[in-house]
Amino acid sequence: MKIGVFYGSTMGATEDVAEKIGLILKADVFNIESVSKDLIQSYDFIIAGSSTWGYGDLQDDWSNFFDDFGIPNLNNKKVAIFGLGDQEDHKDVFVNAIGILHDIFESSGATLVGYWPTEGYSYGSNTTAIRDNKFLGLALDEVNQAQLTDERIKKWTNQIVNS
Ligand SMILES: Cc1cc2nc3c(=O)[nH]c(=O)nc-3n(C[C@H](O)[C@H](O)[C@H](O)COP(=O)(O)O)c2cc1C
Repeated sequence: MKIGVFYGSTMGATEDVAEKIGLILKADVFNIESVSKDLIQSYDFIIAGSSTWGYGDLQDDWSNFFDDFGIPNLNNKKVAIFGLGDQEDHKDVFVNAIGILHDIFESSGATLVGYWPTEGYSYGSNTTAIRDNKFLGLALDEVNQAQLTDERIKKWTNQIVNS
């Protein structure tokens, strides 16, 4: 299966995580800033990562991608989402971008995998990243819980390849 990791990252933290996921899964890794719709559609399993900015907003390069190309057609493809945020300073909208990407990719026709337990995080009630008590993708906090990131990535990558 052809696996591609696509990330949007403003300060580099999401990029670092994307590279780690790419190494573990032997996947191609791309900055969404320089990706076409055809490229993303050429993968069977798309792993999409974004940090959250502003007040619960998708990272800019992802917003630009959807503005430029619209929503890709990913019928019969598999998609997993990961997102970085800050659960202390942005508690109310922690990793909101996960929820935003989730809904966009769901409307692309793909099957979403990689939902993640909420235990071990503290978050407010407004975040769109959680549904039915689960994050809609892997939530990471490099600001407050960096020491947990590698283990979380290891578990999650194992979960998604077996889904
Ligand atoms: C101005 C600013 C706004 C932010 N807004 C949010 C937010 O709404 N929700 C959240 O979970 N994290 C928020 N963050 C935290 C970033 O998502 C976090 O630092 C992330 O690791 C950055 O990843 P990047 O370097 O890949 O862009 C914000 C950070 C800054 C500096």
